[in-house]
Amino acid sequence: MTNQMERENGPWMKQNLFLPSGYCLEFWAAGDGFFRFNIDGKTVWEARSFPIHPEFFKYHHREACEVTIVTNAPDAVLWAYGYQPQTVNETGVTVFDFSEKGILQRTGAEIEDWLRSDPDRPVLHFSPIRHWMNDPVGLCKIGKLWHLFFQFHPSGSEWGPMHWGHATSHDLVDWLHMPVFLHPEQNLWRLGATGGAFSGNAFRDRDGSLMFFYTERLPAYDLFKGYREIQKIARPDRRMIKAEGIVTVLEQRPDGVEHDFRDPKVWWDDAANGYRMILGASIEGDPAVLLFGSGDCLEWQYLGPLYRAPVNFRQEGARAVECPDFFQLEDKWVLVMGFVGHVEPRTRRHNLLYALIGEFIEDCFVPDTPELQLLDFGTDYYAMQSFDAGGRQIAFAWLFNWEYRKPEGSSYSGEMSLPRVLSLSKDKNKLLMLPVIEVDEHYAADPVIESDQSGQYSLPKAPIEIRLTGPLEGSKLVATKDGELAFEVSVADGILSVRLAQDDGSIHYVAELGEAKDLRLFHDFGIVEVFADGGAVCGTRRGYVNIDPDHLEISTTASTQVLEKRSRKH
Ligand code: FRU
Repeated sequence: MTNQMERENGPWMKQNLFLPSGYCLEFWAAGDGFFRFNIDGKTVWEARSFPIHPEFFKYHHREACEVTIVTNAPDAVLWAYGYQPQTVNETGVTVFDFSEKGILQRTGAEIEDWLRSDPDRPVLHFSPIRHWMNDPVGLCKIGKLWHLFFQFHPSGSEWGPMHWGHATSHDLVDWLHMPVFLHPEQNLWRLGATGGAFSGNAFRDRDGSLMFFYTERLPAYDLFKGYREIQKIARPDRRMIKAEGIVTVLEQRPDGVEHDFRDPKVWWDDAANGYRMILGASIEGDPAVLLFGSGDCLEWQYLGPLYRAPVNFRQEGARAVECPDFFQLEDKWVLVMGFVGHVEPRTRRHNLLYALIGEFIEDCFVPDTPELQLLDFGTDYYAMQSFDAGGRQIAFAWLFNWEYRKPEGSSYSGEMSLPRVLSLSKDKNKLLMLPVIEVDEHYAADPVIESDQSGQYSLPKAPIEIRLTGPLEGSKLVATKDGELAFEVSVADGILSVRLAQDDGSIHYVAELGEAKDLRLFHDFGIVEVFADGGAVCGTRRGYVNIDPDHLEISTTASTQVLEKRSRKH
């Protein structure tokens, strides 16, 4: 692609680009201005004036030739990328950065280098190039390619009208950024509304066809009540670039279910000889998971609640279940739920994620014990979604809690957890989560500190992993920069706790550890992910203050290794 720049006076931008045949340029823009594509002096595409609210635009280039892009408002472009549909699966998108000086284009490794130049951006954890990201959605593997979709707001780094962003990977670790996959039904920005293409799951039917079940929140003017949510199916086009053939399959809420009615997960149930779907909701104010059945995936009947939370959850602020997950592990069924709005009275943590293990018989879920397993004691592990890939149950979650957020003016918001593999403990009473083997395979783990005793050490730059092996009672790891706390992890009286620079002590991030003798901690520019007791105890925190420690104080009787995580590829 050739690239030649001409400048005129004022805020104008005029640039010639050679574009191949079939090239697509997609962008979101807002603000006063116009945008024009000329070929041989003739205008072939034009937006005469951008609206004051963001809007989506698309230019489809036909014959391979040079175009001149002219605009008097380059900074009205909020997000832009281009791609050739035939090759985007290999190359990913090219990001177009508009400014008065012209258009800067970046693809593949250039995007990675550009992201790495942000000293505050985690390295091991997936994040969007720009703007707001939340839940992982539509997770699946097709052939050798992993697909990560995510809740995405393409015109700002705050939550807003929801789209599905998309990235692909050959190894669950290195990601290629793809075009936005799914758009909201209506132009919510123009309406001054929120809503859009909410969370959902991939489902592969028995004939092999792939579809995505998801919720559309219709234009909403209140964040907490009175909105309408309906369930839809989208199918991928043949290249997995865009959703198409969207149909609405469920609009009717059961009695007692109000506005929260979302985040479908669907499976084919052999025992029932039918399709089954769960949704997150509340019944008469109690957070609940609803079960629906269908013979054709299109007409759905309500079969009853799969789970209704004990009354204390409602009393403690929980409004609904979000992103329920339900899957088989060995001969058990596992239900995972987030209770939005819930504040745990003892520790003041909110929006925790819980699991139940049990049997699923004749459309009834019978937990082995009513006691909920706290899945991640750190709170920044939410909206977990898992999927089966060749016999492994793989999960991602969104590292966020609404409690803290990136500093104002950040170019993006949101990271994903490390991919985790889920399994059951030996006595099948606990769900275990550990990083997938691909993380270890991808990152050379050179020990920079090996110690059998307490001591003071200088830390290499993130990302790092710390491993403790042996009795953990009394252990303490304190990471600092210039004497100021970055993070502290300690075990006292069988309780594991994590503290970050931003904590004022009003919330307690704690878990019972018992006699565990293993702990792995990943630190990645503010993200602390802890796995102990073979994955039975996991804690994830996302800190935004003092995220670059250079010093580690270790007090422990366990043997300690600090590993520098370096990509073997780069
Ligand atoms: C969870 C959630 C989902 C919803 C989506 C909207 O974080 O609130 O329940 O589908 O995010 O972005």
